[in-house]
Amino acid sequence: MSHILLIGFMGAGKSTVGRRVSEMLDLPFIDLDVRVEQRLGASVAEIFHNLGEPTFREAESEALADLEDEPSSVVACGGGVVVDDENRRILNRLGQVIYLRVSAEEALARIGDTHGRPLLSREDAVAKASTLLALRESLYRLAADAVIETSGVNVDEVASAVVDVVRSAGTKG
Ligand code: S3P
Repeated sequence: MSHILLIGFMGAGKSTVGRRVSEMLDLPFIDLDVRVEQRLGASVAEIFHNLGEPTFREAESEALADLEDEPSSVVACGGGVVVDDENRRILNRLGQVIYLRVSAEEALARIGDTHGRPLLSREDAVAKASTLLALRESLYRLAADAVIETSGVNVDEVASAVVDVVRSAGTKG
């Protein structure tokens, strides 16, 4: 098992790019948020609202650890997965970690309706996104084997850049 794990802020395009990369490399695609929703039988927004963020984070860590037993896949991780130290160690063990970077402004423009993103579904979404991203930027970089800038870049170009990173790592060792 050696996964390709996409990390980065909400709206970075991890799920869209991840699906495209999985097609290009003919690998299964896993969305970690969907795994959490399946574990708890509710949507991310419902989990945050009814059970609280700590319950979401616990299920997210469990879903991440469970990837160790799965065949190699392309994994889109939730934007907050890197905050936990143990999660970052697990990510590192699971395979190649690629940080898709996006600005807070572009992230919000891409997300549009923030209803499904409980951390941003509030009036001061711009300030909240900028603060959260600034807090997490160093953690994304710490966890990543490679960084790909996605602001102003389309999905196909980002997906190709991910495939290039994966292939060049594959030829190094
Ligand atoms: C979160 C990102 C979301 C989801 C949850 C919390 C975060 O995933 O896991 O709303 O803390 O950044 P996406 O990055 O896929 O939107």
